[in-house]
Amino acid sequence: MDSRNFQIAIVFNQDDEPARGAPQDLIAIQDTAQTTQYLYEALLTLGYQVIKVAVRESIDNLRKQLGAFEPHNTFVFFNCDGFCGETYGAVSLAQTIEDLGFKHTGSTAGAIALCTNKAHAKARLLEHGIPTPAYQVFEQPAGPIDLEFPLIVKPLTEDASLGIDLDSVVCSRADLFAKIKYILEHYTQPALVEAFIPGRELAVAMWGNEPVACLPIAEEDYSKINDPHKWLLTYEAKWLPESPYYHDIFVRCPAELTPKESQSVFDVAVRSFKAIGLRDFGRVDIRFHNQIPYVIDINDLPDLSPESGFPKTAMAAGYTYLEMVERILDIALRREAWR
Ligand SMILES: Nc1ncnc2c1ncn2[C@@H]1O[C@H](COP(=O)(O)OP(=O)(O)O)[C@@H](O)[C@H]1O
Ligand SMILES: [Mg+2]
Repeated sequence: MDSRNFQIAIVFNQDDEPARGAPQDLIAIQDTAQTTQYLYEALLTLGYQVIKVAVRESIDNLRKQLGAFEPHNTFVFFNCDGFCGETYGAVSLAQTIEDLGFKHTGSTAGAIALCTNKAHAKARLLEHGIPTPAYQVFEQPAGPIDLEFPLIVKPLTEDASLGIDLDSVVCSRADLFAKIKYILEHYTQPALVEAFIPGRELAVAMWGNEPVACLPIAEEDYSKINDPHKWLLTYEAKWLPESPYYHDIFVRCPAELTPKESQSVFDVAVRSFKAIGLRDFGRVDIRFHNQIPYVIDINDLPDLSPESGFPKTAMAAGYTYLEMVERILDIALRREAWR
């Protein structure tokens, strides 16, 4: 279809306050609106007819707004990473878009649901023989521990490092249960406890469907930090410029790996993409230890603001931001035979 004959609707969640967690979580939550603006300007520059659809407060709000458009000439650029603090908020939005008959960029509601619950995603990886750290889910701050310290405690269904700080890495029962208690109380969800893998931290951004292509591997450089138990991307390291960790952790792209190491990392990343059933694009986070790439996180919708991981690796591969946006949209349009 000629791009003059359809419009792009960027659908995003406009959440004005965190429903739980810490007040500072708002920075990550509102990043979505800012990213939408970057996408909007890029798509306008690329010559598309484009509108922004900010979804507020209820799924009905999305239904009403999309009701003004037709699925045959409106393609949704899906940029929702949550909604109203609901565990499966982004899933409900994607499902609603699909139920109304609209086609959209990125993964299906089903794949987003799988990624949202980290334990479900890990179980799927293990079914496919993909290495991921040993884990347990805790619904109360008590009970037998089947794992060996050091461990890391994360909210089961968050992303963007919400709920992750230096206390998340624990070496004793007392610290473990204190952190689980914190997650249960502040994030009102179970805690995922995993073996803390001390190795190098890598991320592989991918795009395409049959074939899935990998962008250069990115590495978080923790060499300025002495204590290996502090080698992790906490919330402050990701989002708070006033934190030393925000400045002391560098991203190197491409990562320095031997061809054999790179191959094994690419292989695990693409297998994860397919095992989870991602579509169009995504990013897999890995800790590489004793030559084993352990998958720690699957991102069905990696942050697309220019300063974040996915765009930076696309730029390291020679794409401009505009070219990256165009390519993601093009992959989705071709998948739906709109182009
Ligand atoms: N099992 C693990 N071993 C070592 N570090 C981990 C592990 N799980 C998470 N981390 C660290 O915590 C960060 C955030 O965890 P992640 O699972 O990626 O959550 P999010 O979905 O919030 O990005 C990772 O980037 C990594 O630095
Ligand atoms: Mg992650």
